[in-house]
Amino acid sequence: MTHPMLESASRAPARTRARLAATALAATTLAAAAVVAAVTTPASAASGLGQLAAAQGRYFGTALANNHLGESAYATVADREFNSVTPENEMKWDATEPSRGSFNYTGGDAIVSHAQGHGQSVRGHTLVWHSQLPSWVSNGGFNAATLTSVMQNHISNVAGHYKGKLYAWDVVNEAFNDDGTRRQSVFQTTIGDSYIATAFQAARAADPTAKLYYNDYNIEGINAKSTAVYNMVKAFKQQGVPIDGVGLQTHLILGQVPSDLQANLQRFADLGVDVALTEVDVRMQTPADSSKLATQSANYAALTKACLNVARCVGITVWGVTDKYSWVPDVFPGYGAPLLFDDSYNAKPAYTGVSGALGGGTSSPSPSASPSSSPSSSPTSSPPPGRSCSATYRKVNEWNTGFQAEVTVTNTGSSSMGGWTVSWAFPNGQKITQLWNGTLSQSGANVTVKNVSYNGTVTPNGSTTFGFTGDWSGANGTPSSVTCAAS
Ligand code: XIL
Repeated sequence: MTHPMLESASRAPARTRARLAATALAATTLAAAAVVAAVTTPASAASGLGQLAAAQGRYFGTALANNHLGESAYATVADREFNSVTPENEMKWDATEPSRGSFNYTGGDAIVSHAQGHGQSVRGHTLVWHSQLPSWVSNGGFNAATLTSVMQNHISNVAGHYKGKLYAWDVVNEAFNDDGTRRQSVFQTTIGDSYIATAFQAARAADPTAKLYYNDYNIEGINAKSTAVYNMVKAFKQQGVPIDGVGLQTHLILGQVPSDLQANLQRFADLGVDVALTEVDVRMQTPADSSKLATQSANYAALTKACLNVARCVGITVWGVTDKYSWVPDVFPGYGAPLLFDDSYNAKPAYTGVSGALGGGTSSPSPSASPSSSPSSSPTSSPPPGRSCSATYRKVNEWNTGFQAEVTVTNTGSSSMGGWTVSWAFPNGQKITQLWNGTLSQSGANVTVKNVSYNGTVTPNGSTTFGFTGDWSGANGTPSSVTCAAS
C-alpha cells in the first residue's frame, strides 16, 4: 500500500476547509489506568471511548482542530469520547515559527488549555517535518551547522514552551521513504543522517518529561520502511539517543489492515520503546454503503485489538472527530468517510467496532449526548450549601524514577464553586517536584492542592485539571483516597 498523496497533501497551502483533529495522551505502559478515589464514577472527561480505553490502561484520542471547537456538536463529541488530543496543525513549524525567531503559540496554547479543562492529555505534533515547513527553512540555503542550530533553536523554544504539559512529542515525522531510504528533506540533504538523533537530544533537553516519539506512515506492517525505522530505533537504544516511542500513523485503506500489525507493534516494543497508533483513519471510496461501513467497523476493531494485545501499545488516536472535517477527501480524491462519526456526528458502525474491542458495549451514543455528568460524591468538610466536588487521580506517564499524573476536579454540586482543595496521601513516599494549575503544599506523604486564581470557579458538572511531575522509588502506587472540598 502506498501513500502517493500524502506528500502533496501535506505540502498543500492552508486549506479553505481547515482541518484539525486529534487527541492523544496517555497512560503509560501497563500502569496508568484512571483511578478514582473519592468517587465511584469517573469525571466527565472520562466517558465514551476514552473511559473504555482507560479501563485497559490506554488512552483513546483524536486530532483536534481549534477552528472547529466553536461548533458545539464538534466540541461535545470530542470531549465526551476522547481522553487524549493531538493538535491537527497548531504545533507544526509553519504555525509555531512562521519566520525565523518569531514564535506563535496561540493555536497550540488553545488546544492545550481546552485539553486541560477536559481531562485530556496532549500529544505534541510535530517538531521536525519536511511538510508544513516554512520556506525560510526549506529554502533558506543554510549550511549544516546553521540548519542544525535553526532546528535546535526551534525545538528548544517550542518544546520548552510546552514543557511539562504534554504527554508526548512527535519529535521527527516522516523521515523515511517507502523503500527504507531516508527522505531527501532539507534536513537530510543539508545535515545528513545525524539530524534525527540531534532532534531527539534537543527535545529531551527542552522537555524531560514528554515521551519522545518517531512518527511515520506505512510502517504499520512489517516492510522495508518499518524495518528501516526499526533499525534506527535499535541503534538509538544502543547509542543512548533518547527515544521513548514509535508512532504508527495508520492512515489505512478499507480492508487493508496489515495482518502483521500486532507482530510489528510487538517487535518495536521488544526494543524497549512504547508504541501508539497516532493518526488512524480508514478511508473508503465514496459514497459509503452499509457493506463498506461494516468492513470499516471490522477494520477498526482489528487495529484496536492489535494495540490492546501489545502491552506497550499505550493508546490510539484517530485523525479527526468527524468525517465532515477529515483531511482525506481533499487529499485522496474519491475517498472519504474514514472516521468514527459521520458528517452529522452520528456514531458509525466503526464506533461500535472500537467500543466493542475496548470491552465496552456495542451501543452508540445518542448524537447530542453531552459528556456524562458526574454523580454526587460525599464532600469531606461542610461546604456552602449546594457546593461539592470530587477528584480523580490518574497516572499519565512513568519512567525510571519519575512520573507525571493529573487530577481532575469536578463540580458535583448544584451551584458554582469559587474554589477547591484536593488532598491525598501518597502510599509509597512519592514526592511532587513540579505542579501546574494549582498551589501545592506537601508534608511527608500528605499532599494538599488548592486552586489558583484562574481555575477556582467551576460550574456544576464542569471540571478542571491540574497536573504534576514527581519522584518515586520502589513502588508508585495510586492514593487510595483523594478528597475534594468545595468553597
Ligand atoms: C494533515 C492535516 O490533517 C491537514 O489539515 C493538513 O492540511 C495537512 O496535514 N501525516 C501527519 C499529519 O503527520 O500531520 C497530517 O495532517 C496527515 C499526514
